[in-house]
Amino acid sequence: MEILVTGGAGYIGSHTCLELIAQGHQVIIADNLSNSHRLSVERIQSISQKEIVFYEVNLCYEKAIEDIFQAHAIDAVIHFAGFKAVGESVEKPLMYYQNNLESTLVLCKTMERHKVHRLVFSSSATVYGMNSKSPIAEHASLYATNPYGRTKLFIEKILRDWSKTIPESSVALLRYFNPVGAHSSGLIGEDPQGIPNNLMPYITQVAAGRREILSIFGNDYDTIDGTGVRDYIHVMDLALGHVKALEYTLNSKVCDAFNLGTGKGTSVLELVKAFELVTGQKVPYQISKRRSGDVATCFANPTKAKNKLSWEATRDVVQMCRDSWNWQRKHPMGYLSS
Ligand code: WQD
Repeated sequence: MEILVTGGAGYIGSHTCLELIAQGHQVIIADNLSNSHRLSVERIQSISQKEIVFYEVNLCYEKAIEDIFQAHAIDAVIHFAGFKAVGESVEKPLMYYQNNLESTLVLCKTMERHKVHRLVFSSSATVYGMNSKSPIAEHASLYATNPYGRTKLFIEKILRDWSKTIPESSVALLRYFNPVGAHSSGLIGEDPQGIPNNLMPYITQVAAGRREILSIFGNDYDTIDGTGVRDYIHVMDLALGHVKALEYTLNSKVCDAFNLGTGKGTSVLELVKAFELVTGQKVPYQISKRRSGDVATCFANPTKAKNKLSWEATRDVVQMCRDSWNWQRKHPMGYLSS
């Protein structure tokens, strides 16, 4: 099938494109490169040995999106494009609401005009807020604690309302927990701009000598060792989850949410120690104060995805650390190192 992947040059998008190609699909990427690199598109091509159609385009520009749908017989869309930094969203809420919501509305209107009714949306476990008890199932209460999370929550609701107006539509809302790792080639990977918000890229940048020391945000949580516990999931497992969700939309006419996680929790200190063991790289750290908005523990109940998508994560923390480091050691400055 011809799949439009918005944000396909990004971290999770690029890995998903590889998995789509491996399953025999044609991929069209629309990405404005605001938080990704053109080189990742070239890398997808060289790894897959397949030609990728790439449009450098802002999804908010209706004409540009219309042109893509006119030029290609698109069968389905996987929608990754959107701003995703929690901290930045608190400082610039209007930018986040305008970009993330408007781009989605333009996409849906264009899909409807062209009778494209299958959509996989990149949502996030952040929609569960801070009150849900782990393991978290899809029926847990939804409550976002920051503008970024609220854009994900609002878009889920927009897609539910929209899909109700189109009987033949099918929408999968994928709620990721903590994506880490990289393709085994080490040719594509996570390349955050500026200081990494997330734990794993910070660890790998310290290991690569790009950052001096890791600050662990609090060790007085009610967890196994006092540090935050999260559900880290290998990005290649996540990519396969998107392919399975796409298949699911072929045989269903619903709008449904799925957790993509391993169902296992790992603490910050456990991840640091695993990383040092696997890579032989030291990761100096200091304990600092808690980060506002953090919860002690957050991991998935992934049963629904296993039962309805026939999908479950298979890669463990060792493989996550190994593949994250393999990417970073080959690209100390990310894609700019190339
Ligand atoms: C993980 C743990 C931190 C950095 C975020 C977003 C969520 C989703 C995934 C997009 C926590 C600790 C972190 C550091 C640290 N993104 N930590 N030092 O906060 O679980 O989720 O990313 O959808 O929306 O909220 O991930 O990697 O930031 O933090 O100690 O330098 O690592 O306190 O316990 P988080 P994270």
